[in-house]
Amino acid sequence: MQTITNHEFEALVENAKILEQDKRGGKVFLTTDNRIVKCFRAKRHSISSNRIWPYATRFMNNAIKLKQRGITSVAVTHNYFIPEKSRYAVVYPLLPGKTIREALQGDESLSGTISYIAHLHDKGIYFRSLHFGNILLQPDNQYALIDIADMQFHWFNLSLFSRLRNFRHLLLYPQDKAAILAYGKNETLKTYLEATQLSKLSQFIFSQIYYRFF
Ligand SMILES: Nc1ncnc2c1ncn2[C@@H]1O[C@H](COP(=O)(O)OP(=O)(O)OP(=O)(O)O)[C@@H](O)[C@H]1O
Ligand SMILES: [Mg+2]
Repeated sequence: MQTITNHEFEALVENAKILEQDKRGGKVFLTTDNRIVKCFRAKRHSISSNRIWPYATRFMNNAIKLKQRGITSVAVTHNYFIPEKSRYAVVYPLLPGKTIREALQGDESLSGTISYIAHLHDKGIYFRSLHFGNILLQPDNQYALIDIADMQFHWFNLSLFSRLRNFRHLLLYPQDKAAILAYGKNETLKTYLEATQLSKLSQFIFSQIYYRFF
């Protein structure tokens, strides 16, 4: 991690387009040379794990772990600390493609995305920020993850409970829930199970619990 001044940060995001912002200003920037600068607050006065293990560092480490597991995601080139702004920032090249939320506005079916989520679960990846705005569909029809600060990596595939808990996260976002309901509860379950490597018994138990989630 490199410490930079506010001045240097301002130079980094000069003429950049603000993609996301919060009360304190720009949070995610798209620079003129097609790089993303994503900022995280440094919670100075709390004894949170963020101080010891900043989100920006977690983001960078998760990018490396995802690559090791064969999951396409961003490639972090810089990790900055800007003391004057009490912020950390990561920099990575923009990935081609659009978010699943955007793709669903067109004629994209949910089936590939559901299968992709099943695939992540089989690989022991728990993506805490799971929602359709955080998965990209790339021009080659491959998926990629963004917003990867909060993830857990397990040695084995995820438990049935973790899978469902992760899935339930999606239902918290009205537009994502609507997309799932439009695709169909039964169809979603069927697509998920067809894509996983769960045993028939596990699939049966999963199905039983699944319907309680809606
Ligand atoms: N590598 C990338 N390639 C393409 N677009 C990106 C990339 N990173 C971010 N974006 C775009 O910027 C938006 C915001 O990025 P990101 O999801 O990382 O920020 P966020 O503010 O944490 O979002 P959230 O609302 O999920 O908290 C994304 O929805 C996406 O449109
Ligand atoms: Mg996001």
